[in-house]
Parts: sequence; structure tokens; C-alpha cells
Amino acid sequence: MTTTAKLRGGVLLRGVGKSYGTGDATVHALRDVDLDVEPGELAVVLGPSGSGKTTLLNVIGGIEAADHGRIRVAGRELTGQAPGSLSGFRRRHVGFVFQFFNLIATLTARENIEVVAELTGRGDRGRASELLAAVGLADRADAFPAQLSGGEQQRVALARALVTDPDLLLADEPTGSLDMATGRTILRLLQDTNREGLGVLMVTHNAAVAAMAHRVVTMRDGRVQSVVRQEAPVDAERVNW
Ligand SMILES: Nc1ncnc2c1ncn2[C@@H]1O[C@H](COP(=O)(O)OP(=O)(O)OP(=O)(O)O)[C@@H](O)[C@H]1O
Ligand SMILES: [Mg+2]
Repeated sequence: MTTTAKLRGGVLLRGVGKSYGTGDATVHALRDVDLDVEPGELAVVLGPSGSGKTTLLNVIGGIEAADHGRIRVAGRELTGQAPGSLSGFRRRHVGFVFQFFNLIATLTARENIEVVAELTGRGDRGRASELLAAVGLADRADAFPAQLSGGEQQRVALARALVTDPDLLLADEPTGSLDMATGRTILRLLQDTNREGLGVLMVTHNAAVAAMAHRVVTMRDGRVQSVVRQEAPVDAERVNW
């Protein structure tokens, strides 16, 4: 982390709970979660399938409301905010890479990125080309999602999340369907962006990726099982899987 970068995108959760369903069918996706991620940190969230990782990202990003507890993101208290105000906050401050990409099928790769810059009034439309090049897709800018592989769609989704220059990037399995070489390119981009001060919270099934984190959060059964601070995160190139 450079000392000149403005460190952004801190996260604070206290006693956060979120359930789905009612009665016998109730699933406690998050149970009393406390979490601190300092501004400018790159945090990795590990944990088995169903342990609450995606739910955690969704409540931090304001996509879903928590049932109870306190959530503070990038210096802003989300608790008790009206839905409209939450989406305004999200557009201005948070970039999201979804587990299942959520690209718009009728728009090309470039247009998927440009439309976010336009809708949010943030970011520079012209930056779409630059970001597509950064994720190794300069020559696929005019392809539609259906013409792209899963890994290519995922890279477009990352470029889209960065076009608004968010304070915090929430990324759900951003290297999930990538081979090691392409995965490293993505991790390098995430680490470079993080070193410019952007906070990153990345979910992964790949424990090796945790080596590049400042903070490793392990979830189990909707709870934070452990949090480990790492003083010397490794460079993205040194992550092996
Ligand atoms: N919309 C929903 N309705 C009902 N249950 C849900 C919903 N979303 C998630 N759940 C349940 O909440 C729990 C946590 O889900 P979540 O998606 O957060 O897990 P995850 O750790 O991201 O898993 P994975 O690694 O498979 O993506 C699971 O038991 C899941 O079935
Ligand atoms: Mg998930």
C-alpha cells in the first residue's frame, strides 16, 4: 500500500443478522456478524457453500437490507436508510462483481460497461476501452455476453464494477471460472486498484488467494468464524492454485 494513496472503502458491521423464509423453513444466512475492514484494505472472505458469503456482500453493498444490526460502509451509516437512499449510496460508492455476472444480454461488452458509467453519472464512458484492455479483452469489446466464455463475462463484470471509480469493490468469486494465468491477471488488476486506495472485499473458494489479503475472514454457518490480519500480503503473481 502506498502512503500517498487516499485509503477508501472501510466496512464496519455490528450484530448483523439476516434470515430468509419463515417458521421451520427459516434459513439464518447471517447470525450476529461483527466485521471490521479498514479503509484501503484488501479482504478475502472464505467459507463453505451456503455459509453466508454472498449474503454478507449483499448487505454490505445495500442490495439487501439486514434484519438487524449496524452497517457502516465508506464512512456512511446504512442502518435504517430508505431503499431509495441505499441505491443512491450504492451507485456512488460501491462496485459489485456478482457471482453470476449479471451482464445485460442485449448489450455488447463495451456497452455493458458504458451503460453503468452513464446511468450512475460517474466514471468516464471512454474508460470502457481502457478497462477492457486491462482485463485482456480489448479485441472482444463488440461481442455480446452469449458470445463470451464464462471467464470472459466475468472479466467484463469486473471492468464494469470499476468504471465508476468506487470506494469499495465487492467481488463474489471474481476468479471462479478462470484458468490460473487469466485469474492472475484479474488478481493483479484488483491488487493494483487496491494499492491506489480502493477497499476490496473478495469472496473466493480458493484459499490460496487469501495470501494476497490484508485480512482473511472465514465464514461458517452464517457466522464469522475467524479473522486473520496479514502484515505482508504477497503479490498477485505469487498466488498459486
Ligand atoms: N433468496 C434466498 N432465499 C432463501 N434462502 C436463501 C436466499 N439466498 C441465500 N439463501 C440461503 O442462505 C444461506 C447463505 O447463502 P449464501 O448465498 O450467502 O451462501 P454462500 O456462502 O455465498 O454460498 P456459495 O459459496 O454456494 O455461493 C444458504 O443456506 C442459502 O440457501
Ligand atoms: Mg455465494
